[in-house]
Amino acid sequence: MIKFDNVRFSVKDEKTAEEKIILNDVNLEIRGSNITAITGHNGGGKSTLVKLLMGMEKPTAGKIYYKNKDITSLGVTERARLGFSVAFQQPVRFKGITVGKLLELASGRKRMVGELCEYLSAVGLCAKDYVNREVDSTLSGGELKRIELATALAKGGDVFILDEPEAGIDLWSFEELIKTFSSLADRTVIIVTHQKKILEIADTIVLLNHGTEPQAGTREQMLPLLAESEEVCGKLRRN
Ligand SMILES: Nc1ncnc2c1ncn2[C@@H]1O[C@H](COP(=O)(O)OP(=O)(O)OP(=O)(O)O)[C@@H](O)[C@H]1O
Ligand SMILES: [Mg+2]
Repeated sequence: MIKFDNVRFSVKDEKTAEEKIILNDVNLEIRGSNITAITGHNGGGKSTLVKLLMGMEKPTAGKIYYKNKDITSLGVTERARLGFSVAFQQPVRFKGITVGKLLELASGRKRMVGELCEYLSAVGLCAKDYVNREVDSTLSGGELKRIELATALAKGGDVFILDEPEAGIDLWSFEELIKTFSSLADRTVIIVTHQKKILEIADTIVLLNHGTEPQAGTREQMLPLLAESEEVCGKLRRN
């Protein structure tokens, strides 16, 4: 289980030197063996939360616990060692390295091609077409996004953190991806998403809106609430 205890994250505005609060006193418990979806408006702080989870950013105040251990000061490598696996909103390209090699490196040991191909199939890519390709700018946005997801699967571990895994993924592959996410439900899965179909497989939904206390609840509690806020936004847009 992961716990955010009064976590705040702020940055200094370079021009005015004023403090800009991005996450304000976040208290959150993320359960194990559970799919937690994090949703909310653009700029609400979701990717920042992912960076804090992975140790790429450190809280300005507050603590982060994993299985009751204080991990606030641990960096990315140490958290990866604890079993944290991540797929970022904007994947990185690794020129000069093949998809197969990237997956092998992520998995941390020598792998047979067949094993590597399974990870690609799990994200809906025809493995033989991709395993020897370079992770460079010739890959499309959707392909790169899926290769990043396959890398997170290859790394494995107990905690999967996926930031908008649906972005750029076509409708046909989407159903397959949903099945892949559901198959991870015995781990701690945290998915940042704007997609209703992903919210519908989540056990817990967290609504994160800029600087305000996150609202969390079961899917049954949160889906009607989200529908309500969508209606309000729709009215605002219409008026
Ligand atoms: N290092 C930084 N310096 C200044 N502002 C930042 C920094 N990091 C994030 N922000 C701001 O904090 C807010 C939250 O950003 P974040 O990327 O976490 O949003 P998000 O919820 O992931 O949005 P989206 O749905 O568009 O992906 C944004 O307004 C962003 O511009
Ligand atoms: Mg984001």
